[in-house]
Formats: sequence, C-alpha cells, structure tokens
Amino acid sequence: MEAMGVLLAVVLGALPLLLWWLNELWYVLPLKLRVSNTGTKLPPGHMGFPFFGEMLTFLWYFKVLRRPDDFINYKRSKYGDGVGLYRTHLFGSPSIIACFPTVNKFVLQSDDKFILQWPNLEVMGRNSLVVVHGQAHERLRSFVSNSINRPDALQLIAACVQPRLVSALHSWAQLGKFKAYKEIKKLTLQNIGKLFASLEPGPILDSLDKLYDGMLKGIRAYPLNFPGTASHHAIQCRKKLEAIFRVELEKKKKEEVQSNRVGTTNDLMDGLMQMIDEEGNQLSDQEVLDNIISLIIGGYESTTLASMWAIYYLAKYPDVLGKLREENLAMWKKKKGDFITIEDVSELKYTNKVVEETIRSANVSGFIFRLVTKEVEYKGYRIPKNWKVIIWLRYLHTNTENFEDPLCFNPERWNVPARPGTYLVFGGGPRICAGNMLARMQLAILLHHLSVGYKWELLNPDAKMIYLPNPAPADGAEIAFSKI
Ligand code: HEM
Ligand SMILES: *[C@@H]1O[C@H](CO)[C@@H](O)[C@H](O)[C@H]1NC(C)=O
Repeated sequence: MEAMGVLLAVVLGALPLLLWWLNELWYVLPLKLRVSNTGTKLPPGHMGFPFFGEMLTFLWYFKVLRRPDDFINYKRSKYGDGVGLYRTHLFGSPSIIACFPTVNKFVLQSDDKFILQWPNLEVMGRNSLVVVHGQAHERLRSFVSNSINRPDALQLIAACVQPRLVSALHSWAQLGKFKAYKEIKKLTLQNIGKLFASLEPGPILDSLDKLYDGMLKGIRAYPLNFPGTASHHAIQCRKKLEAIFRVELEKKKKEEVQSNRVGTTNDLMDGLMQMIDEEGNQLSDQEVLDNIISLIIGGYESTTLASMWAIYYLAKYPDVLGKLREENLAMWKKKKGDFITIEDVSELKYTNKVVEETIRSANVSGFIFRLVTKEVEYKGYRIPKNWKVIIWLRYLHTNTENFEDPLCFNPERWNVPARPGTYLVFGGGPRICAGNMLARMQLAILLHHLSVGYKWELLNPDAKMIYLPNPAPADGAEIAFSKI
C-alpha cells in the first residue's frame, strides 16, 4: 500500500516536469537528429508546455507583472545573447523570437523566405495588400502608397482632416471631462470615413465602427469558421462592411457617367479607382474594396492609440508641451489662423520630434509575425521551415542599449537620428507600414491644433497600464480639457 502511495506521488510529482519537457522533445528532438551533422543548431530557448507553449510565461510578464519587456530580458539572462534569436512556442505555433537590430533587419528584408501570413484571409480579403506577395504585392503597394503616402496625396489629406479636427477639439472643450481614447477613436473614424469614401458622420459611420470591432476580434481569434466563433462573426462583419463600401463605389461610378467626368470627389476610393499604373492597368472593383478595408484595419486603431499617447505624454511632460506650444504658436501667427499644409508641417522641427518620440514610446506595434517558408540558416543558427518568426519590435525601442533612458519621454533625443536598425516602429523592408507618412502627418497636425488652443490634464495620472491587446492606461486616459 505504502509503495503504491510513493509511486503515485512520484508519478504526480513528475507529471509537470514531463509536460514541461514534452514540447521540447516533440519539436526539437527530430530537428536535432536531422541537423546535428550540419553544425548548425536551433536558437536557445524553451518550447513550454504542450498546446500552451510559453503563453503562460508571456501572460505572466504582460498581464501580471506588467513588465512586458522583461520577457525578453529573462531569456537573455537565461540563455545568453547569441544573435538575438530564441526558440519558443507562442500564439499556437512553434516560433523563433528575433529581438536584435541586425537579425530583425535580415528577417524583414528576406521576404521570400519569411512571409507575412494573416490567419484569417477571408477577413482581410484575398486581394488585400497585406495578403498578396511578391510582384502582386509590389503592384498593389504602389497604388496604395500613391494614394495615401505621397506628398500630393498628403496635401489633400491635410486639408481634409483639419476642419473635423478643429471642431472635435472645440466639442471636447465643451465636454470638459472625457476618456481621451474614446473621443479620439470617434474623431479618427470620422476622418477615415471622410478620407476614404466621403462618408459624413451618421448611422452608416456608426455601423462601420461596430463592424470594424467585430472584424478586429476575429483577426486575433483562432481561425475556426462556424456560427458562434469570433472568426465567423468577423467574416460576417467584413461582408457587411464591404457591402457599405460597394454601395459607395457604385454611386461613384454612376455619378461619373452622369457628370461625364472622372473622379467626382477626392477621396481614397476615387484615387484607387482612377489610378493607372505604368502598364496602363487599373484596380478591379474588388481590389479597391479589399484594400480600403485593409487600410481601415491598418490605420484606425494604430492612429487612435498613437494620438491618445501623445495627449497622455504631453500631460505628463509639461516642459515638452511648453516647447511644442511655442513652436506652434509662431506658426499659427504666421498662418494667421489658417490650416497648415505639409510644407508647414515639415517646418515644425520640434513638433516632428514629439511625433517620433510619441510613436517610439507608445509601443503601438509590439511585434510582427512572419511564416518561414524554407529552412534558413543564420550565423550558425537554424530557423526551421513552417515555424513563425516573431519580430519583437517593442523591445528595440525600450532597450537601454538602443535608446538612452528609454522610458523617459524625451523628444530632444531625436536631435540625432536613431542608430541604424534600432527604430522600427513601422516595421521595415518591403512591407514597411504603407501609412507611415500619413500617420506622422496626422499626429503633427493634431499636436499643432491641440497645443495652440488647449490645455488638459490626466484625471488619473497614476492609472494602471494594461499591455494587451495594446498598451493603454486602464482608465482610457481620462482627461479634463479646456481652451487656454
Ligand atoms: C502610429 C501609427 C502606425 C503604426 C505604429 C503602424 C505600424 C505598422 C507596422 C509595424 C507595419 C508592418 C507590419 C508587418 O510587417 O507585418 C504596418 C503595416 C501596414 N500599415 Fe501601418 N502603422 C500605423 C499607421 C497606419 C496607417 C494610418 C495606415 C493607413 C491608413 C496604415 C496602413 C498599413 C498597411 C496597409 C500596412 C501593410 C503594408 C504591407 O503589407 O505592404 N498604418 N504598420
Ligand atoms: C512601452 O514599453 C515600456 C517598457 O515595457 C513601458 O515601460 C512603457 O510604459 C510602454 N509605453 C506605453 C505607452 O505603454
């Protein structure tokens, strides 16, 4: 009897240990056996528990300890630095984490071996910029960049967003107290509606917001498509969203025929519909729709978060706001209160530093994912086929080796440019954010109008931070806001 008890205790005691090593055995052993004679090895690390992998450790650092980047620091101290690659099992896949500038650059540039692959293609749309690869990607990319990221496009966008921004700020002052996240999100949506398809605030825009939220949840969810799952819901949302934009598209076509001219408005949809590439080709209707939707996915939440953090940091760093105000008041006087243009924005030197510092500090895109399509060897390490590579962008920007006193919000650090490869807030390589100039310009314009006319403070300056799914203060950045 006693022996049985001991045996049971040993088995139960050993079980967690066995489970802890099972994933290692499962993933790593076969690779070790196969590659042992080539002299390359897998990056150091641990595959965690079966099924969950290291998710629990990840959540421990991100949710419980609230020191997200210590997840990487822990690996560095446990396994050594090597080349900044660690094996793990996260978000459901065996993965290699890349967290140093040189190797990140290698992964981002080698887009034939490391491809971007979204889990729910049907949510993104099969003709979307983020879904296609190689030449098809290059082609779509030039259409999209031309319509949102080039100076002439930006000039139109600058003119288009300012009336809305000015009236939003005015209404914020009347509100007095509000959650910055919530109000900025509304403003961003209005701008997107107007910029993308000349939609004015109203029921269509409200439903767009709900559909977008449903889509976003499905993009993050496990790709199981049957009624009741988040993915299924997301696909339904996407279909409805597409239908909304399709109505607008048909309207535009009809108006063009009636008025007998090309491009009746200057919005993004018109831009994409009219644009002709070097070979004389145009986008199909479906391509226009798929890309409008993926631009909303790329731009809505990211712009909202970056703007909220700008407001947050300026409330915490009054000296920075002071300098910002000085520069922008001078511009405002020069313009005699007129809206600013992209030329004006490029003259706002300090403001642009605040923009960079905001995007760096806000950790908007924490990590990006690639699928390994063929086995890759990198400096003696093996990156196995069909694994994921997780480029841990946020770690670059919060690492003392790359930025002095990284947690301090210090626009002056941009008096000198960041060292190569250390600043990848927009990713890099052929898939660098297609809206990066737009995002920067919109932030600068926001800072201009905020700083010349308003003052604000955080109601809960010590609010807890949450880090998932995106970094945000737990209170949604509640502020008291008024005219100067
Ligand atoms: C501060 C704001 C923003 C941040 C931090 C940001 C960050 C990023 C990052 C890191 C990527 C690369 C993803 C990858 O390689 O897997 C990306 C891609 C992309 N972003 Fe942004 N983004 C921002 C704003 C915007 C805006 C305003 C738009 C458009 C309206 C936009 C549209 C896109 C698109 C279309 C891609 C995919 C590009 C491609 O695959 O070729 N982003 N963004
Ligand atoms: C960005 O990450 C750093 C390091 O983890 C953290 O201290 C900081 O609060 C984060 N910034 C935001 C805006 O969440």
